[in-house]
Amino acid sequence: MKYNNILVEEGSTIATITINRPSKLNALNKETIKELHQAFKTLDETGKIKVIILIGSGEKAFVAGADIAEFANFSVKEGRALAAKGQKSLFDFVENLSTPVIAAINGFALGGGLELAMACHFRVASENARMGLPEVSLGVIPGYGGTQRLPQLIGKGRALELIMTAAMIDARKALEYGLVNHVLPQEELLTFCENLAGKISNNSSVAIAYAIKAVNAGFKHDSNGYASEIEAFGACFGTADFEEGTTAFLEKRKADFPGA
Ligand code: COA
Repeated sequence: MKYNNILVEEGSTIATITINRPSKLNALNKETIKELHQAFKTLDETGKIKVIILIGSGEKAFVAGADIAEFANFSVKEGRALAAKGQKSLFDFVENLSTPVIAAINGFALGGGLELAMACHFRVASENARMGLPEVSLGVIPGYGGTQRLPQLIGKGRALELIMTAAMIDARKALEYGLVNHVLPQEELLTFCENLAGKISNNSSVAIAYAIKAVNAGFKHDSNGYASEIEAFGACFGTADFEEGTTAFLEKRKADFPGA
């Protein structure tokens, strides 16, 4: 597939998507959002890719936000549609993807950029990373799930302070808040994420997909996390991965998961 704003690199089990608009600090315009959706969908459907790493090009930014130039003249109706479409096609889509997605935050992750990182299953940052939701400084609010996912990740008080002040926090503070899981020197960021991805890819991708579903169910108002866990747990017993995982343990060997 040919993309204009992103680069997709596929290894045997790990893929890397690089958002590639460095002159605009990788800001998310409409076309980039569309391409990201397509790339995540395609990689998820291959069956061979077990983990996706998402990173920004260059050394300065992960993503510096939604492309402000694109929505500066929008009406109420267009603003609403922008948030609704973006949430559905990219942010909720990534959060609910069966394939785990790690955000490698290699610089500024602001507005839609932080929202995209928060939609990923977890986040790792480089020491130079700066994160924030500066939307109220533009007279708008986060519209790609930021008002929901930031309080989920760091607590309501801290989230409201960050949103109201439009302030940026550095990687060390983000680690303290639990917004990112690890902080590395920039030159080690990708290798660290690849190592983590390697560990994940040794496990059952079928079971991991069920785990993502069960965890996400607990954060949705129309579902019960515990009930979803029971269903997903039961469903695992019908999979070839479960048969292989338990047999390998009893035979004292390493499991070789057949996958979906
Ligand atoms: N949308 C559109 N363009 C953006 C952008 C965004 N969110 N963020 C950065 N850019 C563009 C700049 O307009 C500039 O383009 P130009 O060279 O054609 O003028 C280019 O990226 C480089 O950014 P610049 O502001 O010159 O870099 P800087 O190092 O001085 O500042 C930031 C970096 C991140 C502090 C600053 O770019 C910024 O505040 N960006 C907007 C962040 C934001 O409010 N995001 C939320 C959007 S809802």
